[in-house]
Order: sequence, then structure tokens, then C-alpha cells
Amino acid sequence: MKEISGTSRVLGLIGNPVRHTLSPVIHNTLSKLLGRDMVYVPFPVESDPVTAVKGAFQLGIEGMNVTVPYKRDVIPALTGIDPAAAAIGAVNTLVRTEKGFMGYNTDMPGLGRALIQKGISLAGKQVVILGAGGASRAAVCLAASCGADHIYILNRTVEKAECLAREAGRSYPGLAMTALALEEYSKVPVKPSVFIQCTSLGLKPEDGLPIRDDDFYRMAEYGYDLVYRPADTPFLKKLNSLGIPGDNGLSMLLYQGVIAYELWTGQAVPEDIVAVVRTELERAVYGRNILLAGYMGSGKTTVGKALAEKLGMAFLDTDEEIERREGRSIRTIFAEEGEEAFREMETGLLRELSASLVGTVVSTGGGIVLRRENRELMKATGRVFLLSASPEETFRRVKEDKNRPLLDSSGEEELRQRINLMLKERRAAYDAAADRVIETEGKTVEKILCEIGEAVE
Ligand code: ATR
Repeated sequence: MKEISGTSRVLGLIGNPVRHTLSPVIHNTLSKLLGRDMVYVPFPVESDPVTAVKGAFQLGIEGMNVTVPYKRDVIPALTGIDPAAAAIGAVNTLVRTEKGFMGYNTDMPGLGRALIQKGISLAGKQVVILGAGGASRAAVCLAASCGADHIYILNRTVEKAECLAREAGRSYPGLAMTALALEEYSKVPVKPSVFIQCTSLGLKPEDGLPIRDDDFYRMAEYGYDLVYRPADTPFLKKLNSLGIPGDNGLSMLLYQGVIAYELWTGQAVPEDIVAVVRTELERAVYGRNILLAGYMGSGKTTVGKALAEKLGMAFLDTDEEIERREGRSIRTIFAEEGEEAFREMETGLLRELSASLVGTVVSTGGGIVLRRENRELMKATGRVFLLSASPEETFRRVKEDKNRPLLDSSGEEELRQRINLMLKERRAAYDAAADRVIETEGKTVEKILCEIGEAVE
């Protein structure tokens, strides 16, 4: 996204509520990466979505997404509707034309592209769809349009599954489709199938599985769960325990957005751009990374581990990671190849982390901030907190620790002087690396965690 000016174009989302939407992350990241002068804004619409859509057209809005509860209700406001969206009976994307908005549904091709990316084809396959709500419609229509051999729709309320099968049958005449209640699952013929989990089960921590029998899931050669939070859903856990591959719905969310953007702009989004958007989206869903910087003895590891535990995030220590990858200690790396080689390893690791790391607290090596490139990579990876302590306090904390290659010194006084000097030399680099400085002296770990926790909220 460029700076907003008189020529900026507006994209938007209407729904109710829209407070927790992830679509701005997708679309504003795309505009930024593609250098388009467009801004995507959520519009909470309390009632009368038809008037809202007509108003949006008058305001010159370039394109809209539509979410719950208006995916059907906006249809009367449109000048036309794409045939696939008509078959699903719901639109989620409005594209501006001269006379008004045209309606599309990008959920179905979004799921399609997510499966293609994984090398999964539904053509000629037995497809088992769990659930019969709005999301199942897109999955059923996708399976139908891809030429599935037979579609089984299983739902707690069998009447809803029957209704969905009837409606899809009208759009795809001759399609082999069977609606079943969940407890009738043994009627699904035992043969290799693609499973698509479209119930809302998994969203809540206490949720179980729609069907419990392992033999039922053993039929799956691949499973896709439309739920994406938590990343490891009960359905995916079950498949994983049986050695069956599967993915969560984040890729469908991503691609429905990418396809909408392509419809608005008339240009295909290259996969390398999609990969960057995916990381941004994952960070928005599973948590932005938190990086802890600071001199040795500043508490990066203790605070980092406790913080990861408290926030339910993963933990990574750059020094430990480099030692693990190299199969030798940092002391040995310094002795064998020198400091510069080690710094290069740190930069290489940070490059990787900035491209793909998600939901992790990272404790960084004491000297990592010395390179400007590293400081930039750290900021691109997440929020950077500098844990700070005075030279005297640092001296007290590190004097017992013998595993510090840069601090080898003969006596206490010499150690104190080296710490003083290094802290002075590094101060500017630490300050430049940090988004926020946390003073640690005289504070308990719990107090430090609270300060970081408040800052990331
Ligand atoms: P969406 O638009 O995301 O598909 P929905 O229309 O509310 O959401 O549909 C939710 C789906 O999850 C339905 O298939 C629902 O089953 P019913 O049609 O019987 O309501 C299913 N679902 C929700 N809670 C469930 C539960 N506890 N056990 C089994 N299925 C459940």
C-alpha cells in the first residue's frame, strides 16, 4: 500500500461482525508487494446490505468482499452473478463493472487452488465431505466441478446434507452424491478417498471429532480441514496419528483472497508473492514472533523460555540453533573459523527466520545486533525487545559462566573492564535493533514477562 492520496482506490469488506477479519492482511500486503495504490478496509454493516452495496458502488469502491451473514443477501444488489457462485448460492467477492457490481465466489476456487498446490486432484475420486453448512457448499461444488467419482456428504443433521445434495444435484445433473447422517458413516464404501472437513468442530479446545472410528479415517489418502485455528486441528491430529497427510484451511483462506484480488486487478499474483502473503497471514493467525536481544547475562534465555510458555508460543535460541546445525559448539566455531564466520551463520539463520518463522519467541546471540543487516532482518521477523542491565549487574550475572568465548579473561577486574567496554561499544547497535527496551535490573522474571506481554497486546 502506498501513502493514501487523491488517486488511491478503495477495496473493502462488508459483513457483521468484521472486527476479526484477516482479509486486510492479505489484500494490503498484496497491494504493498505489487506496488498498487489500493487500500482495503472492513465495513461493519448492521443491516440492509443491499443499500450498503449500492452505496459502495456510488462511492467508487473498486471491489468488495462479503462475509457472514450477507453472502446470499447481497445478491439482489448485483448486476450479475458468476455461474459457479450461482451454483453455490453465495457470493464472497464483488467486482466493479460499469453498471454495478458482479458477484463471484472465490471460496470454491480458493479451496481448489489450495489442493492443487498440494498435488491433490479430486477427479475420479471418492470425496467425503463432513458437514453441510455454508462452507460445505463450496467443497461440494468444487468436487462436482472437478469430476469427482462420488461425493458423500455426512452431517449431524441429515436433512441439511440432503438439502445440500439436492441443490448441488440441480447445478451438476448426473452427479453421484449421497447424503448421510454422521452415524451412518459405515455406508461409505471402503476405498481410497479425499476427506474435506467442513464442520465447525475443532475451533473450540474441547471439540472432538465428528466421527470417532479410526477405520473410517483410514480410508483417507489425504484430508483437508477448513478449520485453521488451531493449526493442528483434532481432524489433522487423527490423520497424522494414522500416517495420513493433511492440511488446515489457512491455504484456502489465503487463496480465496488472492483470487479475489486477481479478479479486482485483472492480474495473476505470482506464487513467490503468495508465499510472502502466506507468512504474513500465518503471523497474524498464529502469532507474530517476539525477538529478545541483549548482552550476555541479560536474561534472554530465561525470559524467552518463560515467555514462550506463558504465551503458548514456540521457543528458539539462535546460538543453540547454530550449534545444532553445525554439530559443534560456538566456542569451537570461533576457534576453528573465527568470529566473522560465526556472524555469517547468524545472518544466514536470520534470513531464513525472517522469511518463514511464525509464533515463536527467539532468544538471539549477544553480538547478533552488530551487523546492520541482522538488525533489519530481526525487525522483519517480529517485535524486538532489548533486555537491558547495567555493566555491574551484567558482571555479577556472567562471572560464573565459563562458556563465553569473547569474555575469556584472567581476573575479575579484567572481566569487569571487558564487559564495560563491550557494553559501551555495542550500546548504539542494541538501541538501533530494539523496538522497545526493557530494563531488567531488580525485576522478577514475572514482572519482565508482564511488561513484554503488555507491549505485544
Ligand atoms: P459454515 O458456514 O462455516 O459451514 P455452518 O453453516 O454453521 O458453518 O455449519 C457448521 C457445520 O458444522 C454444520 O455442518 C454443523 O452441523 P449441523 O448442520 O448438524 O448443525 C456442523 N457442526 C457444528 N457443530 C457440530 C457438532 N458438535 N457435531 C457435529 N457437527 C457439528
